[in-house]
Formats: sequence, structure tokens, C-alpha cells
Amino acid sequence: MAKWLDDAVFYEIYPQSFKDTNSDGIGDFNGIREKLDHIKELGCNAVWMNPCFESPFGDAGYDVSDYYKTAPRYGTNDELKRLMDEIHVRGMHILLDLVPGHTSIEHRWFRESMKAEDNAYTDRYVWTDSIWETPEGPGALRGISDRDGSCLASFFSHQPALNYGYYRPEKPWQQAMDAPGPRATVAELKKIMRFWLTMGCDGFRVDMAHSLVKGDEDGRGTIELWKEIRAFLDEEFPEAVMVSEWGEPDKALAGGFHMDFLLHFGPSHYNDLFRCEEPYFSGRGKGDVSEFVRRYRENYEKTAGKGLICIPSGNHDMARLARTIHGDELKVAFAFLLSMPGAPFIYYGDEIGMRYVEGLTSVEGGYDRTGSRSPMQWDGSVNAGFSLAGEEKLYIPLDPAPDRPTVAGQTADPDSLYHEVRELIALRQAHPALKNRGGIEFICAEKNAYPFVYLRSAEEERILVILNPSHRPASFACGYPLTAGLRTFGGEITVKDGTAAVPGGFYGFYRV
Ligand code: GLC
Ligand code: CA
Repeated sequence: MAKWLDDAVFYEIYPQSFKDTNSDGIGDFNGIREKLDHIKELGCNAVWMNPCFESPFGDAGYDVSDYYKTAPRYGTNDELKRLMDEIHVRGMHILLDLVPGHTSIEHRWFRESMKAEDNAYTDRYVWTDSIWETPEGPGALRGISDRDGSCLASFFSHQPALNYGYYRPEKPWQQAMDAPGPRATVAELKKIMRFWLTMGCDGFRVDMAHSLVKGDEDGRGTIELWKEIRAFLDEEFPEAVMVSEWGEPDKALAGGFHMDFLLHFGPSHYNDLFRCEEPYFSGRGKGDVSEFVRRYRENYEKTAGKGLICIPSGNHDMARLARTIHGDELKVAFAFLLSMPGAPFIYYGDEIGMRYVEGLTSVEGGYDRTGSRSPMQWDGSVNAGFSLAGEEKLYIPLDPAPDRPTVAGQTADPDSLYHEVRELIALRQAHPALKNRGGIEFICAEKNAYPFVYLRSAEEERILVILNPSHRPASFACGYPLTAGLRTFGGEITVKDGTAAVPGGFYGFYRV
């Protein structure tokens, strides 16, 4: 089943900001098609593309108004098909972004659902039975139609929650998961998935996958629901790959997902690594990796053999890596990201160290996420090669820094982050121990200490990974001779009397 996932290395494309080919200032499918070779040459063999469906773009497309139609600004359904075909021609795969939890208020279903008279969409969303009763949750849509009720919001207050029922209905308006309304929502979800899988996508990244069934604190109802979806896929599209935005891998994998993201929210301590006051991967060397490792190990043990945990370089919801770490620190960070189990995800532009653009006004519901969504920087030509539109027409302003990194610039520089990332991916792909399903054992991950050391293994192969992001030298008790270095950066290690002295700003891979 979906063997390709065993050595998938993903690249996340934010379609608005990748490459514009018709000079309207917004990226499009044809632009992505033009730039597929960049992704391929980097060594990525899979793509996750953020939502590209019809939408009023109050949340950058996570507010869908027609699940069966691409947003005209990106191109037609046919153009998306062509893009998917070209991805496949290159031996690559693509996941589309499925937003099952909510729609836009402009969706036809919601317009119908707002009506006072009963109709086929009355129960498509979660409504109370009186305008004076507000459902418990992230917010509510109230007083905007003749229907006497409040509708539960799912994320922003313009994203009404689709109705998958309540795990244990308590109020008269709370429907059971097997009531006709929730069943109709599930049937429609399958139809949507069938539509895009038939057209050629290889699976989905699922938005807020944990959130579908309400009043379901420990996720049991939502897990049930996803199991039903997996059973449907096994029947009709057994190769379809499912990756969840859930943040609790044991639950996600129980629901039949192949892989779950560790997220910048939730209990993973992912933020300790790159996105906090003293990130572990900063040269200041004041960070802590031990809590992250403790949680990771728990998750890993719970999910071992069942599926994958993914640690992304970033995504469209969090600050870019290069906001908090810089220069060679990024290289050591990528040595980590590209040597962990689970498929790596590289957020577009992170491979060249694109920066978070400070001080931008929110674009399409981005708020502070907007600075991580600026146009891809291809080269030194007008608008960094992103678009030929006037600068004022660009979807989001470009990074104004005169020394902003570009793909062309970094391709020409053998010491660039781009080349480092490329080499690290190639190393991963050349060694089963480093690939997605290889095992991991943590050797050294002490509280507030450096280095960070782990052993990756598969079959006969064992590779020791040593990371010292701190600028200060560090040491650890090492039972291995470290003679077979596969790749090192930032100096050399010396081992004496069982102690390995590791230079500052170093990473190394050793066959042991
Ligand atoms: C997810 C998306 C985010 C979106 C939200 C609501 O977290 O990644 O961009 O705003 O869900 O759909
Ligand atoms: Ca365009």
C-alpha cells in the first residue's frame, strides 16, 4: 500500500506565492508546473499543495465555497489535472489539502442551511435551535439569517462547522453521529475525495482532522469517523495517502492516517527546537531538546510500526525557521529535519532560508502568518522572478531585504543552504537507515545540553547522527569508533578514551 511513502520527501507549496505566469500577482497552477524541476532537483519527490478550491479567501482558501472546482485565480480543473499529470511524469506524488471541518459562509450549502424553511442542507452544519443559545466552541455565527438558531464556527467566525454529530449528544439540537444530517456530510466528504482521487491526486493532507466530531474530548468519535473513511478508501482507492493535521500521532494513526504532523500547537515541544526565545538549534546554545525527545519517544513508541510522525521545517501557519535561526544554524537544523524518521516536509523557500517578512498587514486572514507566506524568491530579476505584475499587485509584498536569498543565487554558490539541503536529502535517500521507516534510538539528549545524538537503523545498517547546534564545543560518552564518516559539517570529531569532542556548529553522520 502506497510504497512511495517509504521514501517520500515532501515539499509544501503555497500556491498563491509560488510562481505567477499570467501577471496578476498571484501564483497559479501553470507556475507550479514550470517550477517542478526545482522541487525535483532539490530531491523532493512529493508535494503538498495548500487549498486551491473556489473560495472568497477569508482564510487563504481554507474557507471553501465549492469543493469540486478550483479557484479561477489558480486555473481550471483541467489545468490542475495537467499539473498532477506532470508531477506523475516526474515520478513524484501530490497531496491536495482537504478541509472537511468547515466551509466558507458563501458555500451554497451554508446559504441553504441559513434558511428558516427546512431543506436538504438544514442539518449540514451544527446549529442550535434558538438564536439565544450559543454552541460551545471556538465561536458562533449568529443573527445573520432568518433561521432561529446559532451556527457553530470552526476556526474563524466566518467558517461554519460542518455537522458530523456529537459523540454524546446532550441537547436536543445536538445530533448523534449516525443521525441523517451527519451521515449526509460524511457521504459528501467521500464524494469530494472520490472526485479528486479519480482525477489523479495521490491523497490528502487533512486540515484540522482532529476536530470533526463535537463533544469528543478524547477523539473517539473522530477516530471512528476516519476509520470509516479509510475503509472507503481501502475499497476504492487503496493507494490513497492520508496525512493529518492532528498533532497526536497515536490518535491520527488509529483513525487510519499514514502520518501525522508534530505541530506548533499542542503538546509536542516542537517549538523548543526552532520557535521560542532560546531555540535548541540556535548557536547561543541555551536551548533544550530533552522535553521534545521525551514526547517524541512516547509518540514513537505508541505508533511504531503503525505509521509515521512528521516534523516539518515549517508551514504556512508558523514563523519561518529563518526568523529565529540563521546562516549555518539552518544547516544543522536541516541535518536534524532530514535525518529523523517519518517523511520530511520542507516548506517552500525554507530550502534557501527565506525569511519571515516582518511588519506586513494581514492578507486574506493571514494575520501574523502573512510574513511566512511571501512570494518565492527565484532570482535577481523583477519581483525576484515570482511575477511580472507591478509590485503593488503582488499577492503579498516580497521580502524587501537587498540580500534576500534566491534560488538562482544559491544554486550558483556551492556553500549555500540550498546545496546543503540537497546533499542531505541525497544522503537520506541513499541509506535505508535514514529513510522514513528506519528506526531511531536516542543516545544523547540531556536537559539543556549539547550535543544531540541518535542512532538510525534499518536491516544491517546503523548510522549515528551527531548534532551540535551550539557554537561552543561539546562532548559525549561515545562507544563507537566514528571512523566511517558519511558526511560532516563544521569540523571533525575526535574520540579519546570513550569521549567524543564535538566542535561547535557541527553535524556528522557516521556508519557504526
Ligand atoms: C489549519 C490550516 C490553517 C487554517 C485553519 C482553518 O490549521 O493550516 O491555515 O487557517 O486550519 O482551516
Ligand atoms: Ca497568476
